[in-house]
Amino acid sequence: MKYQIKNEVSMDQALADTTWIINGMFGTPDEPKMPEVLSGEDFEDLVDMERLKKAAGPIADGSGLYRKHCVSCHGVTGNGRGENSAILDPYPRDYRMGLFKWKSTKRGAKPTRDDLVHVIGDGIDGTAMKKIPELSEEDVEALVDYVIYLSIRGEVERTIIDEAVFELDFEVDRILDTEFAERMKTEGESIRKQVEAWEEDGEDEESPVAKLAEKLEYYEDSIGLADELAEDIAGSWLDAEDDFVEVPDPPEDVPVPDSYEEFVQMQSGDEAEALTASVERGKAVFTGKIAGCNKCHGNSGKGDGQNKDYDDWTKDWTSRVGLKPEDLETLIPLMARGAMPPKNALPRNFTEGVFRGGSSREDLYRRITQGIEGSPMPAASTFVPGEYEKVDIWHLINFIRSLQESSDQPAAEMQAAK
Ligand code: HEC
Ligand code: HEC
Repeated sequence: MKYQIKNEVSMDQALADTTWIINGMFGTPDEPKMPEVLSGEDFEDLVDMERLKKAAGPIADGSGLYRKHCVSCHGVTGNGRGENSAILDPYPRDYRMGLFKWKSTKRGAKPTRDDLVHVIGDGIDGTAMKKIPELSEEDVEALVDYVIYLSIRGEVERTIIDEAVFELDFEVDRILDTEFAERMKTEGESIRKQVEAWEEDGEDEESPVAKLAEKLEYYEDSIGLADELAEDIAGSWLDAEDDFVEVPDPPEDVPVPDSYEEFVQMQSGDEAEALTASVERGKAVFTGKIAGCNKCHGNSGKGDGQNKDYDDWTKDWTSRVGLKPEDLETLIPLMARGAMPPKNALPRNFTEGVFRGGSSREDLYRRITQGIEGSPMPAASTFVPGEYEKVDIWHLINFIRSLQESSDQPAAEMQAAK
C-alpha cells in the first residue's frame, strides 16, 4: 500500500505473488512449516516442529496456545492487529519487522530465546501485556518458537516485496510467475531436462524451449531470492546469542543498587555519601550535552522533553514514504487497510519507576548503551572524556532510580532528607 501511494503502481499482483511464495515456504499460521532451505540442525533447534504445533492453529488439546492467549492483541499473522489492539498504547508488537525492544543483545541484533522467554513468561511491566499464570514452562517455550516463526515468516514476506520493488525499479510486474511455478511442482524435472538439452544443443532462440528457459531462469531467480532472504533472516536469529551484551561490574567506589528498595536502603547506609555523589554526577550527565537524556526525558526525568516522535512501526508506512504521521487525512486509505492510527512514542517518566525492559541495573545498563530498538531512544555509546564516560552509565542509573516517587516516601522528601 505504501509503495502504491508513493510510486503510483499497483502492488496487488506483487502481493499475491508474495503470498504464494510465503505460503509455499512457511505454510500458514494455522499449519506452519519451515522452508526446505532452513532444514539444518541449528534451525531445527531454533524452531522445533513439535513446539510449533503446540502453539499454532485452533485451540485444542496439544495446539492453539497462541490463539488462546495472544491473538486478541498480536493478530493471527503476528501483525499486532488483533481485535483489542487499537485501544492499547503502546500497540501490541508487530513481529513482522523483526524488531524487538526488550532484549539483552546489541542494537540491531535479534533477541535471544531467553529474552523472549522472559517477556512471554513474565509479561511487560507498564503495558497491556500481563503475565499469564496458567502458562507452563513448556507452553512458554512453544510460544517462543511460534513468535520466532511468525517473525521470520513476516520479515521474509516484507523483505521480498521491498527487494522486488527495488530490483524491478518500481515497475513491479510479477515477483514470481505463479502459474509457471505451479507447473514446476509437477513437471519440474521434465522442464529442467528440456532446458538442459536445449542449452547443450546451442540455445536455439527459435525453438519453443527458449521461452521455457526464460521462464525457468526467472523462476529460479525469484525462488533463489526468497531462499536467500529466509537464510539471512533466520541466520540473524541464530546469531543473537553471539550478540549478547556482557555488563561489567561497576567500579568498587561506585555503589549501584539493583532495585529501588536497595536504593532506599543504601541511602541510609555506609555508602550513602557515595550514592548521593553518584546521583549528582548522574544528573549532570543526564542534562549534559553529550548524553542529552533531558532532550526527551526532560530535565526532571518526567518524560516531558521532546515527545512528538514516532516509533519505527509507524514511521515505516508514514515518514519513510513521505507521508506525515500528523496528517490523518492522507493516511485514511492506509488505515482503512489496517494500519494503526499514529500515536507518539512517549519518553519514559522516571518518577513512576516502571521499567518495561526490566529494572535490574544490568537491564538499565543495556538500555542505556544499546538504546531501545524500534523506538526513538538512541544508544548512548559515544564517550567523551569529562562529559560522558563509561563509568557515567552507572551514575545515570543511580540518578534515574533516585527520581522514583514511592507512595510512602515521595522523591521530594527524599531530596530534602539528603
Ligand atoms: C492484552 C494484549 C496483549 C496480549 C494478550 C499479549 N501481548 Fe504481547 N505485547 C502487547 C503489547 C502492548 C506489547 C508492546 C510492549 C512494548 O512496546 O513495550 C507486546 C509485546 C510483545 C512482544 C515483544 C517484546 C519485545 O521485546 O519487543 C512479544 C514477543 C510478545 N508481546 C509476545 C506475546 C505472546 C507470545 C503472547 C501470548 C502468550 C502475548 N504477547 C500476549 C500486548 C499483548
Ligand atoms: C530521542 C529521545 C530520547 C533520548 C535522547 C533518550 N531517550 Fe530514553 N527513552 C525514550 C523513549 C521514547 C523511551 C520509551 C521507549 C519505549 O518504551 O518504547 C525511552 C525509555 C527509556 C528508559 C526506560 C527503559 C524501560 O525498560 O522501560 C530508560 C531507562 C531510558 N529511556 C534512559 C535514557 C537515558 C539514560 C538517556 C540518555 C543517555 C535517554 N534515555 C535518552 C527516548 C529517549
